[in-house]
Amino acid sequence: MTDDIIIRGKGITKKFGDFTAVDNIDVEVRRGEIFGFLGPNGAGKTTTIRIMTTLIPPTSGEIEIEGHTVKGLDDPVKEKVGIIQQHIALDNDVSVRENIRYHAILHRIPRKEAKERMDRLINMMGLEPYLDRMAINLSGGWKRRVAIVNALIHDPSILVMDEPTAGLDTQSRHMLWKLIRELNSHGTTVFVTTHYMDEAEELCDRIAIIDHGKIIAQGTPEELCRELGSFAVEYVTEGSDKQYRYFHERSEALQFRDSLPEGAQVTTRNTNLEDVFLELTGRENTQAVQEVEYRI
Ligand SMILES: Nc1ncnc2c1ncn2[C@@H]1O[C@H](COP(=O)(O)OP(=O)(O)OP(=O)(O)O)[C@@H](O)[C@H]1O
Ligand SMILES: [Mg+2]
Repeated sequence: MTDDIIIRGKGITKKFGDFTAVDNIDVEVRRGEIFGFLGPNGAGKTTTIRIMTTLIPPTSGEIEIEGHTVKGLDDPVKEKVGIIQQHIALDNDVSVRENIRYHAILHRIPRKEAKERMDRLINMMGLEPYLDRMAINLSGGWKRRVAIVNALIHDPSILVMDEPTAGLDTQSRHMLWKLIRELNSHGTTVFVTTHYMDEAEELCDRIAIIDHGKIIAQGTPEELCRELGSFAVEYVTEGSDKQYRYFHERSEALQFRDSLPEGAQVTTRNTNLEDVFLELTGRENTQAVQEVEYRI
């Protein structure tokens, strides 16, 4: 069974001064899956990702990648991972082609192999018309595509994406989902964070929800919905805000609906991941206001 776990984080903790951003969490990503990491702003997702991809060291805890315990930030096992960070950093003053070439050189990929991979990835991302443009002149969505090529150029077995679809238009989001699925079907394990619950529901085989640095739920989207109760009743009674109740049995949901006062506006529906997320992390999570500043 151990072989099935491609990244394992054990007891990961990260403190910044007195503040604990990630608090003793265990994460297991299985080979071949699309794993979603969800949480409100400031919950600790990016910090966890940076630790699990060996970009920053944990304060305590251990990371295993492909069964190998990571020893320090220069551990060669990091070659197994490709990462697309939340804030994409391209070399703005050179062309797209040079950006990609630079990554191939950074990973010391032999020239012929690099050329083959570049051609394949560029074609896959539809980047041919943009190769001679300066990276600075690309829109956010196209920059992201270049970042994806860069992250995949060394043929990693795990692709880690921190909010890959943030700020993208609907078409680009769907295109990216398709691409993620395609990469995954060719064997790449994907670890992805997102704020879009529909995206997580659509893409992810399993999900972990993190809040205030702690993992508060893990499972398939279906399991998480089932745990809360698969049947949701959403209702507004006079003078009240929208309220939600969840039931394991349809009959209980209908019974509750029928017991509401006359004139109440009621919707009975299936529970979705957004319900699970909001119920677990709070419908008014105020942690969101924190400005995140990266100093590492
Ligand atoms: N280098 C740092 N120095 C100090 N505090 C930090 C640093 N990096 C992150 N933090 C703090 O750790 C907490 C978790 O931040 P993190 O970026 O991991 O959250 P996140 O879940 O990725 O949030 P978002 O959804 O906004 O991207 C935040 O309170 C943030 O301000
Ligand atoms: Mg983040």
